[in-house]
Amino acid sequence: MLKNLFIETIGCQMNMRDSEIMLQLLKESGYLPCPDLAAADAVIVNTCSIRGKAEQKAYSFIGSLRRLKEENPDLIIAVAGCVAQQEGEKMRLRMPHVDIILGPQSIYQLPDLFQQVAHERQGIIATSQSQDFAIPSFLPDLKNGLAHKRFVTIMQGCNNYCTYCIVPYTRGREVSRRQEDILAEVQHLVAGGVREITLLGQNVNSYGNDQPRSERTSFPELLRQVAAVPGLVRLRFTTSNPKDLSPALMACFQDLANLCHHFHLPVQSGANGVLAKMNRKYTVEEYMAQVLGLRQACPDISLTTDIIVGFPGETVADFQATMDLMEKVRYDSAFSFKYSSRPPAKSCGFEETVSDQEKVRRLAILQNRQQEITEERHQEWVGKTMEVMIEGESKMANGQWSGRSSQNLIVNFHSPAIYSPGDLETVTITESCLNSLRAELKLEETLKND
Ligand code: SAH
Ligand code: SF4
Ligand code: F3S
Repeated sequence: MLKNLFIETIGCQMNMRDSEIMLQLLKESGYLPCPDLAAADAVIVNTCSIRGKAEQKAYSFIGSLRRLKEENPDLIIAVAGCVAQQEGEKMRLRMPHVDIILGPQSIYQLPDLFQQVAHERQGIIATSQSQDFAIPSFLPDLKNGLAHKRFVTIMQGCNNYCTYCIVPYTRGREVSRRQEDILAEVQHLVAGGVREITLLGQNVNSYGNDQPRSERTSFPELLRQVAAVPGLVRLRFTTSNPKDLSPALMACFQDLANLCHHFHLPVQSGANGVLAKMNRKYTVEEYMAQVLGLRQACPDISLTTDIIVGFPGETVADFQATMDLMEKVRYDSAFSFKYSSRPPAKSCGFEETVSDQEKVRRLAILQNRQQEITEERHQEWVGKTMEVMIEGESKMANGQWSGRSSQNLIVNFHSPAIYSPGDLETVTITESCLNSLRAELKLEETLKND
């Protein structure tokens, strides 16, 4: 008999992709996705540990499952992801109703762990991390996930040890996936109708660095190979540390027609002293040179970033330097966060000099100004023509369609045509809204359709 599986995913795209993989693996054991928690035979909580808040969110959701488990003792509860990896035994003690605690390297063992739990009915912890871990060959299920765009993981882990960051501890050392496996996955997806691929890794520019020099493929080489897969319409990737952004990667934006014009380049701070304490290994000047290089290689590229406010020792002048950098770069959008101390990351030992109230103040100033810049950047698109990839029809009104531009901007427009997700349409931007653009069909398209 088929069983119901409810998956709650918190965190980054790596976690989203891992959740898809776990669902696919369990499908083979007779589980089907179920959106109703109360009807579930098994629950997976895929957790994120990047900031204290994300961890609290995970614990409060896991805690809320206790009642369900009391009502249905056969319910299997598995906690995966970065909090599970980090907490292990501690989580078992705090949440005794959890059956399986597994780290990111153990997701492929999930069907075995489910079997084990059915027999043993006692908390299992699978959080071992190995230097020799290799991401198994695995072809995604075309029916499980969006039809037109997918994520493909190219590496796991991170070796950078930015002092604030927990990821090197939760995801382990960098492990690159075999190039032939990545290409096979992309070919499989594209042959099945997928039009857009996003390559995923915490630090994609280090792709291949863990492989022997003679067999190594660099990230720009990999990007070229993936871009050449026939039928792939759009290619994206995330995330890159600015210290590793090579001229070879910039050249890809000039050479590869299907590489989207968007670069997520997390800066974290605009002050050199703070960047050094964060162990980011670049200066503001070097970062600005990268920004210039990208804009030279691809003039209409959209740039987005991540920023942390209130890092230990961040002065008002340091914060002002971050604001100045934002004015210079004029990001299309930015994710910004209050610094959160994450043991065992190194910065936990640094004295916290910025009060929570002050962090809130700095974050509000930064986010307000970025919102204005985002609107100004949107405004610059008015009157220009863009190609959008259709995401779907608006539920609000007939004939209203929503898509994304190469820059990853959301574009809404009216059209009498019927599209499928993944179709391309050319539109002219008419108006800029808070978080999106409005457009109309290009004139000749309108005439054609009348
Ligand atoms: N690998 C990516 C970052 C992934 S984490 C990179 O290097 O760009 C996403 C973002 O979360 C980071 O860029 C950073 O801005 C933020 N972040 C990470 N640790 C944090 C912490 N301890 N407190 C606040 N924000 C944090
Ligand atoms: Fe964390 Fe730095 Fe690695 Fe990004 S590069 S995952 S911020 S340690
Ligand atoms: Fe969170 Fe782990 Fe991703 S900490 S951001 S789920 S790598």
